[in-house]
Amino acid sequence: MGSVKNTKITILGGGNIGMSIAAGLIKSGQWKASDLTITRVASQSLTDIVNMGINATHDNKKALKDADFVFLAVQPRQAVKVLEDIKEALDPKKHNIISVVTALSFADIEKVIGKGFSLTRIMPNTAISICESMTCMASNDTESEMFKKAQALVNHLGKTLIIEEKMMAAATVLASCGTAFMMRFIRAAAQGGIQVGFHASEAQYIVAQVAKGAACLLMENGLHPEQEIDKVTTPMGLTIKGLNEMEHNGLSSAVIKGIVHSYNEMEKIK
Ligand SMILES: NC(=O)c1ccc[n+]([C@@H]2O[C@H](COP(=O)([O-])OP(=O)(O)OC[C@H]3O[C@@H](n4cnc5c(N)ncnc54)[C@H](OP(=O)(O)O)[C@@H]3O)[C@@H](O)[C@H]2O)c1
Repeated sequence: MGSVKNTKITILGGGNIGMSIAAGLIKSGQWKASDLTITRVASQSLTDIVNMGINATHDNKKALKDADFVFLAVQPRQAVKVLEDIKEALDPKKHNIISVVTALSFADIEKVIGKGFSLTRIMPNTAISICESMTCMASNDTESEMFKKAQALVNHLGKTLIIEEKMMAAATVLASCGTAFMMRFIRAAAQGGIQVGFHASEAQYIVAQVAKGAACLLMENGLHPEQEIDKVTTPMGLTIKGLNEMEHNGLSSAVIKGIVHSYNEMEKIK
């Protein structure tokens, strides 16, 4: 697959996800801050980025000069304008384009910059900042060397799964919105913990590690969640009583409905 260490990376749009990607790239140890260039609109934000040792500019075209990888990380409504802005400076032989923009298809991108580019769409989450993202990836040419390099890069930032482009909306809900869904469950469990006697910080510490441990069990043992639940639920015991009470109040149903609702809402913005 070849090394991507110390390649030059430009991130167009240093907002929540753009800065999370930058943090992950540096944390991975494969890139120095000086290998990165980030663009934003707000001047104060550019100063903050420069203070982190990362190159920063308002000028999207200038930011492409030395770039091997170009992340597009602006809001969907800003994306076409940014692509219009950079299209003359883009080189299909040099620039490996990776878009995180929700609902912006390969066809949408090619309509602005033309064909012939290696295009990768990724759907990460904010845990990319600590190299623990679940990132779904789609490519306009999965066999190309450019895509293999994009994959090598993203593999440094957590787990990856290659999907078809048509699955990107579903990936957005499950992998990206999923961070918020998990956080809300953790918060709710911690609130329960406070009610049974823990201080808020202790409750959060306990629940976060429990969630991490449960996820690690699934990843390492490869069992179905119900098989892990069976190991914990003594007949007539406390765990099954609590679990059934949660289900009577609609836990699984609420989670499934929430995911499907987000997905349906996303279909409307396409
Ligand atoms: N947040 C997530 O967890 C997440 C996960 C997966 C995918 N995404 C997708 O990633 C994209 C960005 O989301 P976000 O949450 O990071 O949004 P955000 O925080 O609003 O960031 C957007 C950034 O783009 C910058 N920007 C706007 N116009 C620009 C231009 N013409 N040139 C250069 N930079 C420009 C903004 O700069 P200023 O603030 O200086 O104006 C801002 O820093 C969206 O398409 C979203 O769907 C987000």
